[in-house]
Amino acid sequence: MNEIIILRLKQIFDSNRVLTSRTDRMTYSYDASFATQLNPSEPEVVVIPQTTDEVSECVKLANEFRVPLYPRGAGTGQTGGAVPVKGGIVMDLSKMNRILEIDHQNMQVIIEPGVVQADLNNALKKYNLRFPPDPGSAKMCTIGGMVSNNSSGLRAVKYGVTRTYVLGLEVVLPTGDVIVTGGEKSKALKSVSGFDLSHLMIGSEGTLGIVTKLRLKILPLPETRGIVLASFLKLEDAGMAVNATFRSGLQPSAIEIMDVNCIKAANMMKPVLQLPDDNEALLIFEVDGGQDEVTSQVMRLSQVVSEYSHYVKFSNEPDECQALWEARQIVGAAVGLLNPGGFRVYGGEDICVPISKLPEVLRSIHNLADKYGIICGIYGHVGDGNLHTGPVIKLNNKVEVENVQKMIDEIHHLAIEMEGTTTAEHGVGIVRAEYMEKEHGPALELMRAIKRTMDPNNILNPGKMALPN
Ligand code: LAC
Ligand code: ZN
Repeated sequence: MNEIIILRLKQIFDSNRVLTSRTDRMTYSYDASFATQLNPSEPEVVVIPQTTDEVSECVKLANEFRVPLYPRGAGTGQTGGAVPVKGGIVMDLSKMNRILEIDHQNMQVIIEPGVVQADLNNALKKYNLRFPPDPGSAKMCTIGGMVSNNSSGLRAVKYGVTRTYVLGLEVVLPTGDVIVTGGEKSKALKSVSGFDLSHLMIGSEGTLGIVTKLRLKILPLPETRGIVLASFLKLEDAGMAVNATFRSGLQPSAIEIMDVNCIKAANMMKPVLQLPDDNEALLIFEVDGGQDEVTSQVMRLSQVVSEYSHYVKFSNEPDECQALWEARQIVGAAVGLLNPGGFRVYGGEDICVPISKLPEVLRSIHNLADKYGIICGIYGHVGDGNLHTGPVIKLNNKVEVENVQKMIDEIHHLAIEMEGTTTAEHGVGIVRAEYMEKEHGPALELMRAIKRTMDPNNILNPGKMALPN
């Protein structure tokens, strides 16, 4: 990289926040995605801002020299969304991690983008409050990253996705100008004043701006929780039980599925769990609310589900509930145990299909794994129709490496054909860019036009999403 740019960056940031060593650059050359682990892309330089002014100055410099700039949170992404495919500058926002204000009276917080989800929730606990969106990676992922991907996870089925909680954002635009969305000085919980620019930014994956401050809605913690665990002979029965749950007017706070491979993997990693592993699938339902409400919901849920399952168990014992959630949280990593010496591939699969199609789609994914001979677990936020697969392959087996990519591609096409989406929470990045046209049709052209208008020099996160080339 041009020495002048490095020099100018050192004027904007302290020298120790401008990283140029090979080791540092390698650290930022991939995320959790298989695609970037196979083909990492190193930035030429990494900068670590502490203020909005520094972010803005850096964006202006990138424009002046036409250098690509890639904002990044914790790097937990599974689609290469923050990986510098065209080199240039990576901006690591994880050190802008202050909780600026907990305005509990007005049910909102103001934070910087690098705050980790679990840290915010720990800080809110003493006010009996919480920020509900809960991705599997809550202990690591930054909330800036969650907003940029509109991520969601376990509790979206009742509480909605990250977007639901964004009241306003401070954003450094691709030109370096700074705006505040949702009302410059607003502390209101609702507004319909003007175009909804917050929602344009949410899920734009760092292609339209860099979020430097967030005003987020928070909710009270529920009084208590209960869990219903049900085992199903066939995957289809689990899908039908999800549909029956909503038909009967129940609203669980989470409905997660684990197929038999995931159950076996969780039991291997944590033998005390002793999850029933003699059927094709397990559903874990959570209900929350007041004590009486939880008790009655758990009872009704058990009744509804028992039409499809011969094993239904419930618990409102906090330690047991916690252990079951841990089983769900470890499953993504635990599937690696299914194929000793194997590598857990994150192809980004987080398709979402209409819940009426769950029985068919669950079976189709299972059949695709068989067709390609891939050891694979199926899990996910089935209450939303949002499914993950956890393939485990041997990296030195060329056929498996090729087949897993074919399988993932078929899963993405299946999602669109089933009137669903290729991505419900992990984002487009580089991995899903090729499906954008099929999924959006002519609307993709408007997305491209917005990107070109806001970022005429194609500085921010180029090579992704609407403009992959
Ligand atoms: C999960 C993440 C991977 O559900 O979305 O575990
Ligand atoms: Zn998920």
